[in-house]
Amino acid sequence: MTYAVNPAIHRIEAPPIMEAQGWLRQGMRNRKILMLSQAVPSWSCAGELDDEVARLAHEPGISLYTDIFGLPELRAAIAGHFSADYGGSVAAHNVCVTAGCNQAFSAAMMAIARAGDNVVVPVPYFFNHTMWLGMLGIEARFIPAVAPGTNYPRPEDAERLIDGKTRAIVLCSPNNPTGAIYPPEVIAGFFALARARGIALVMDETYKDFRGGPAPAHGIFAEPGWEDSFIHLYSFSKAYAMTGYRIGSITASAQVLAEIEKILDCLAICPTHISQRAALFALTSLEGWKTEKIATMQDRLTALRRAFARPGLRYELISSGALFAYVKHPFTGETAKQVAVRLAGEHDLLCLPGSMFGPGQESYLRIAFANAEASDMETLADRLIESQG
Ligand SMILES: Cc1ncc(COP(=O)(O)O)c(C=O)c1O
Repeated sequence: MTYAVNPAIHRIEAPPIMEAQGWLRQGMRNRKILMLSQAVPSWSCAGELDDEVARLAHEPGISLYTDIFGLPELRAAIAGHFSADYGGSVAAHNVCVTAGCNQAFSAAMMAIARAGDNVVVPVPYFFNHTMWLGMLGIEARFIPAVAPGTNYPRPEDAERLIDGKTRAIVLCSPNNPTGAIYPPEVIAGFFALARARGIALVMDETYKDFRGGPAPAHGIFAEPGWEDSFIHLYSFSKAYAMTGYRIGSITASAQVLAEIEKILDCLAICPTHISQRAALFALTSLEGWKTEKIATMQDRLTALRRAFARPGLRYELISSGALFAYVKHPFTGETAKQVAVRLAGEHDLLCLPGSMFGPGQESYLRIAFANAEASDMETLADRLIESQG
């Protein structure tokens, strides 16, 4: 190659899921591989959605751009859904549709921070968050995501790190990678801190539908003036098994959305039109389907927790929820990556090492169990015990 690449991009790690897939042995196998590296449900999207998309493909205008912020009817439907689900007040003009939650995060952070600024991020973190911050030259200041005696971070840890260049606190609940579901009062504490310090609380709530009950995930949308301090990110990928449709959303103040509009215009102009219509159908017609799938995922979680109680299993379940289990491995002389590579290569179990989720995570593995049946969880325990030697 005769030209240089951007060093700010070059120094960022390669996409972790792709790397992990390379650890599987090639060749003949005589047993099922447990693919637990990526949080993708094992089922396809609803059959009714397939039918609707087939119908939509023939609609006049479906091949055209939409508004940068997405279809007005989808924005209104998302606002209505959030108002009901959070027991709060979200207007359509506070919502924009994105090509997935990763694009939502990228655009939101680019709109509020620049190189030399910093944001507070609990560790372990979702790696795409810190990859993006690193590319923009925004410093991630780390607090523990698992405070002593709890499985969630503490506002007081964040408070100590905030200075004149801090632009945001980033939270993810239900959490990837720990599966922890942060209690509403903890989220309220972070919101109060962000508000007091004049920074944004940015919450990635990709997994909100998997929070384990109908009670609102938090009460921020019911707070008057929430939009002055809060940016909410969502994804249609997981709850509706629509990963390939690439639809997510940003909910924020109209002022910050005006900045985000410039970014989205340059990135993709608008999310795919037919995908937006598919998301609108999902939101308005697939509530029953979604509820059923979420119950199935909850059964998988229960089976996983039961499997980790197996006598003789020396891997310890630290935290679990939504689509994730965060597990402490029993090997003191091996890095998390060495353990994960060995599990993949010798025990037909693909999961990710804690080291992909931040510093100080060498003792941990992330198991994304959405792709495993409840009946696979005992096999998971078998394979882990097998790896103990
Ligand atoms: C926390 C979190 N945010 C965002 C995403 C990406 O979501 P999307 O497919 O909507 O871009 C993921 C996917 O795994 C995730 O775990």
